[in-house]
Amino acid sequence: MTILVTGGRGAIARAVATGLTDAGQDIRIASREPADLGPAAVAYDPADPAPALEGVSQVFLYSDPESAPAFVAAADAAGVKQVVLLSSMSAAGGPEDPHAKTEHVISSGGYATTRMQPGAFMSNAKFWAYQARATGQIRLPYLDAEEAPIHEQDIADAVLRVLLDGPGNGHDDRGYPLTGPVSMTRRHQIALVTEVTGVPIEAVDLTPDQARAEMQMRDEGQRETLLAYWASRVGVPQPVEPGVELLTGHTARTFTTWLADHPGLFG
Ligand SMILES: NC(=O)c1ccc[n+]([C@@H]2O[C@H](COP(=O)([O-])OP(=O)(O)OC[C@H]3O[C@@H](n4cnc5c(N)ncnc54)[C@H](OP(=O)(O)O)[C@@H]3O)[C@@H](O)[C@H]2O)c1
Repeated sequence: MTILVTGGRGAIARAVATGLTDAGQDIRIASREPADLGPAAVAYDPADPAPALEGVSQVFLYSDPESAPAFVAAADAAGVKQVVLLSSMSAAGGPEDPHAKTEHVISSGGYATTRMQPGAFMSNAKFWAYQARATGQIRLPYLDAEEAPIHEQDIADAVLRVLLDGPGNGHDDRGYPLTGPVSMTRRHQIALVTEVTGVPIEAVDLTPDQARAEMQMRDEGQRETLLAYWASRVGVPQPVEPGVELLTGHTARTFTTWLADHPGLFG
């Protein structure tokens, strides 16, 4: 009964792998760059996942619409019983959303599927940290956009619950929207960074055009989707979802806790 953890280098995959090991499970960590993870990790080619799936009963899977059909065929051939997919709350935005597309394909397999649908990650603040250390500023558009960001460990804890319960135990064919414990503006998040770390940071509210010039994103469509999303969240508190508490039995971790868990990030 081996559990395959894909996306081995990812923050959530690492936390899931640690939790499963602590729980005494037999796991196989797979990555596109297994050498970065030590001798026990195996190679994972999303276009040809069959070798990594041999002898596997459950899978923690990162979302990828391109390779999803190959995954379904290989997982069915390997006799996989449960797939827990790291999707996104954005999947609720309609069938054209990349996560919605992946959910649709992965759910067509013969195994039980559970879709984990987190909103914004607290770890997005890691990208702000590079700016803050270099310039003393965090430059973002729509500073008054609201989100209820979630700690990566809470996502991992929720995933662990579903994997440890296994298929046939109330999680099959379900989606779990997951958020952090409170909705707040990005401006407030930045103020919390200063409050907790003591590092003075100037929050700079960019116009959409300034943001377009400064955001280093290769995919223009993705950039415009993000800008439209943030614009839609200005002055609109994000509803807090009960998923973390429901699955883990503990309240979702706060952003203050996240900052304490990542010391030295902001200097
Ligand atoms: N940031 C947010 O606010 C947010 C919100 C909701 C959902 N999400 C979703 O969460 C995921 C990122 O999670 P994270 O923070 O753990 O990521 P991360 O730490 O940035 O790592 C990205 C991981 O994605 C894996 N990966 C990339 N392409 C893959 C593929 N085709 N097949 C399998 N694995 C693949 C990589 O695995 P390797 O070890 O193989 O390189 C890597 O471990 C993305 O799917 C993103 O859309 C993010």
